[in-house]
Amino acid sequence: GAVAAIIFNNEDGDLGGTLGSPSPYHVATFGVSGKAAAPYVKKLEHGKHVDVIAYIDAEVATIMTNNIIAQTIEGDPDNCVMLGGHSDSVSEGPGINDDGSGSLTVLEVAVQLANFSVNNCVRFAWWAGEEEGLLGSDYYVSVLSPEENQKIRLFMDYDMLGSPNFAYQVYDARNDRNPVGSQELRDLYVDWYKDHDLNYTFIEFDGRSDYDGFIKHGIPGGGIATGAEVIKTKEEANMFGGDAGIPFDPCYHLLCDTVENVNMTAWEVNSKLVAHSVATFAKSFKGFPE
Ligand code: PHE
Ligand code: ZN
Ligand code: ZN
Ligand code: ZN
Repeated sequence: GAVAAIIFNNEDGDLGGTLGSPSPYHVATFGVSGKAAAPYVKKLEHGKHVDVIAYIDAEVATIMTNNIIAQTIEGDPDNCVMLGGHSDSVSEGPGINDDGSGSLTVLEVAVQLANFSVNNCVRFAWWAGEEEGLLGSDYYVSVLSPEENQKIRLFMDYDMLGSPNFAYQVYDARNDRNPVGSQELRDLYVDWYKDHDLNYTFIEFDGRSDYDGFIKHGIPGGGIATGAEVIKTKEEANMFGGDAGIPFDPCYHLLCDTVENVNMTAWEVNSKLVAHSVATFAKSFKGFPE
């Protein structure tokens, strides 16, 4: 859809801590113009309950969009592992790799997890408004009470898991600017790729996906990805195959991000790793800081 901006209307400060409730995002669309949102976005004040996005266009309609949150009934509700992908796409394309790949994997893991029992609670998220500035996830975290914040022991971000010219990328917790990235989660991904004789590279937390609100609000986070618009190097082509000199995802934010755009090998490999991450932390947070 032609979603171009979101105006927060957060009268209810408890919504983020009330599982299962929709959050009141007012989404402004730009009709058929299909213009990118960025030129219209005047201001997004991070961390406030009323974040204002100004937009300059006559053809604005206000609609609603929602984060979808699901939590296991079983498992310690004071110790949750959370994971998510974003359910929106840019207006320029269908968003199948970005982020149908992540959101569908999260859904499949949620479906499969119903056959297992958990010690810790598992909380799933399908975020709204990621492409407009991480609006759904940032809102969700910003309205958590301190008590609810502390129940989320870890957040795992799954955005772009099957790029056609993929690399296996792990967010590196040891970034000076982002010291709250989870070392335990990073190590889990690295160990798993090693165990499966797969190469991996580290990427920095650059604030471009839904982990951002979590780590800014002191919740350990991390994730994996397979690359967006950045050009693959020769070294990376040697490590992962594919083509040097073109982007990891040449259809990033374009009309061609269709089902044909997804590398099924990368997606399957990473989906298994997502399942492994959930299975591990649903069982125990052993080794985590208290
Ligand atoms: N989150 C970005 C998007 O949805 C993609 C991205 C992921 C870019 C990770 C850089 C790093 O468009
Ligand atoms: Zn915030
Ligand atoms: Zn995107
Ligand atoms: Zn994305």
